[in-house]
Amino acid sequence: MLVPEFVLTYAENQPEDYPTTQGAYRFAALVYERTGGKVEIQVSAGGILGEEQSTIEQMQFGGIDFARVSLSSVSDFIPKMNVLQMPYLYTDAEHMWQVLEGDIGDEFLKTLDGHGLVALSWYDAGARNFYSTAKPVETLEDMRGMRVRVQESEVMKAVVEALGASAVPMAYDEVYSALETGVIDGAENNWPSYDSMRHYEVAPYYTVDEHTRVPELQLVSEATWKKLPAEYHEIIRQCARESAVYERKLWAERIREAEERVRRAGCQVIELTLEEKARFREAMIPIYGEYCSDYMDIIEKIIDADK
Ligand code: GCU
Repeated sequence: MLVPEFVLTYAENQPEDYPTTQGAYRFAALVYERTGGKVEIQVSAGGILGEEQSTIEQMQFGGIDFARVSLSSVSDFIPKMNVLQMPYLYTDAEHMWQVLEGDIGDEFLKTLDGHGLVALSWYDAGARNFYSTAKPVETLEDMRGMRVRVQESEVMKAVVEALGASAVPMAYDEVYSALETGVIDGAENNWPSYDSMRHYEVAPYYTVDEHTRVPELQLVSEATWKKLPAEYHEIIRQCARESAVYERKLWAERIREAEERVRRAGCQVIELTLEEKARFREAMIPIYGEYCSDYMDIIEKIIDADK
């Protein structure tokens, strides 16, 4: 029997069958195979190792080895990351991948250096949309006064507040019950999360406004990275990149399935008119000045990358 030299943990807050979790299993299998069984990565899905903020803190002390987290959860301590979650930054998914897979994306992965973390790859998380418990959001006015759950990120708070709603920061696993008990009137997330966390059961109005495209990050704790022999570093990076290709394929399938499932369950899907979408976009423009004034050159490069 092969005896691993390293047995390492991997935190994932999505359920077992979710694309990012399946990507993590693929990653772990590839690493095991290519290190000849010397590095075994044990994936814990469903948030059992804790919610994202605490996972990140534990990684910074070497308590958890690997994780897949949303970019929003590192942006408060790495302000440059805010660039990549600016509302309506990309025209579509292709534009975002053009950026993330090129030099700009590589440069952003390096911004985690010095924070106790090493970034390995990007995973897809599609576009985020608003959803609500009591009434459909069809116009900007419908957002006014709503209490909307956001991730623990200043920019995500600002996005919601720019629309006249109140932002309620909260961990992902608390959203269902907060929607159910009326602590919040709505939230925002991509189709697969809305579906797999069953938020559609308690917030049946889904408004496709696509305000942000926030990618996922695959991370390793810097303490763990330093413990691993250098010969494994390139193997691990390569396996992370390959697992990302796999995750993106699963993601594309999952978006379609999730949409079909929630429509079948009787949810009302609202497509904003072009005019209304332009109003949402307009309302969020000040966020660029507020959070990214030091990075306007990068923002221009990103906009120009849309070919
Ligand atoms: C997405 C993302 C999660 C994140 C969640 C959130 O679902 O994949 O990692 O926790 O958004 O809204 O908190």
